[in-house]
Amino acid sequence: MFMLESHLNPQQNRVVSLVQDAATQAGLTLLLAGGAMRDMLGGFQIRGLDFVVEGNALKLAHGLAGLPGVELVSEDEVRKSADLRFPGGVPAQIAMARVERYSRPGAKPKVSAATIQEDLRRRDFTINAIALSLNRGSRGLLIDPTNGLADLGRRELRTAYPFAFYDDPVRLLRMVRLRIRMGLEVEEKTRAQAENARLAEVEKTIPPRALCEELARIVSEPSPSEVLKALEEEKLLALLSPAWSGPKLNLAGVAKLERARRLWSPDADMTGVDWGPFLYALTEKLTPKERAELIRNTAMTKQEAQAWQQLPARARKAEAILKSARLKKPSQIYEAVSKTAGSELLFLLYQSPVRLVQDRIKNYFQKYLQTAMEVTEAEVVASGVTPGTPKFYKVRDSLVAARLDGRARKPAPPVAPIVLTPEPEAAARRGRRQL
Ligand code: CTP
Repeated sequence: MFMLESHLNPQQNRVVSLVQDAATQAGLTLLLAGGAMRDMLGGFQIRGLDFVVEGNALKLAHGLAGLPGVELVSEDEVRKSADLRFPGGVPAQIAMARVERYSRPGAKPKVSAATIQEDLRRRDFTINAIALSLNRGSRGLLIDPTNGLADLGRRELRTAYPFAFYDDPVRLLRMVRLRIRMGLEVEEKTRAQAENARLAEVEKTIPPRALCEELARIVSEPSPSEVLKALEEEKLLALLSPAWSGPKLNLAGVAKLERARRLWSPDADMTGVDWGPFLYALTEKLTPKERAELIRNTAMTKQEAQAWQQLPARARKAEAILKSARLKKPSQIYEAVSKTAGSELLFLLYQSPVRLVQDRIKNYFQKYLQTAMEVTEAEVVASGVTPGTPKFYKVRDSLVAARLDGRARKPAPPVAPIVLTPEPEAAARRGRRQL
């Protein structure tokens, strides 16, 4: 539990407490599993929180979605799982502990409620099949029926059961993505299982939507270009677009976007930021016919397609605002950039020929954001306003503007406290407490 708390950022820690409280109130057994556990134990940054509930997960998710700032993003009625977004953009999944039975590769599974042990055993890879109890009686208990912890230690990727690729062939792509992201070796038997699955051409049965969801996961990887290259080598990328090979696969463009994206903080909420610019770069060298084929192969929704197709037009408007000579003071640039959608900023960094626009966006991330964050809540409250009220935000904005424009100096650092020699009795007490 100490490891978990120290791996989560403050917003993620708040989500864990919130979900724990809601599950306790509902009398449900709650665990943390999947990617969150893998990333914590493997020493990686935790991206999303995967909660598993023995019982009615959707009811718990709906209850949480009623809380202020919590959004229900999507819901899977078959698998009884829901994706939520918590304040600060923290993504979390609440899913029912279940088993999935597949009649044939790529088929819709028959889902039934199960224990956490059974749930873990039906997962893709052992490193994704570890759970941590968040219940009062057994808080902190690690459940690892397939010995994923040892595989993490050996840096090996191993399927949790022999038919993992037959049941859900999208796992062939997931294997490549995880291998690249975490720098793992694929274990020998797993490699043989994947080869057999490929001989049976199970990858051809991957549902188009599963390919689209996988594509979204790939572009939000730290290095999509490396994952795409590996998928091309494994001849799996053609499932999405047969045109994505050789010079038509714009890996240089994707790598340029990756570098630009590093301007964002690792904790930033990137929802809606990656997809448009990365898909724009990835389709840049395709013909209209090939783009249409990609949309068809992945069952991309109209909204998902428009996010990259209409991005240049939207970004041009943003560019016109950001290059305006009317923006003189840093506070004006700060305001203009913060009002621009993240996807447009990333696209402009990728493509805008206007140097001034590039510099202004970079200054925003590298200088102004930092300065703005120096304005503390205490400073704002000192002006007699209550946190959370519209007046509070107005005062904060004016203090930020003043700081950015150099009209207000940084508050003096706190004066060092005068250290008195402690009485022997008090010193002894303090020592005991520390122990
Ligand atoms: N899972 C699985 N088979 C799949 C997809 C997912 O067994 N085809 C299981 C894995 O245990 C996985 C968990 O469901 O860890 C959650 O899946 P997902 O959210 O897609 O991925 P994460 O593992 O959380 O990884 P990330 O989001 O960082 O890619």
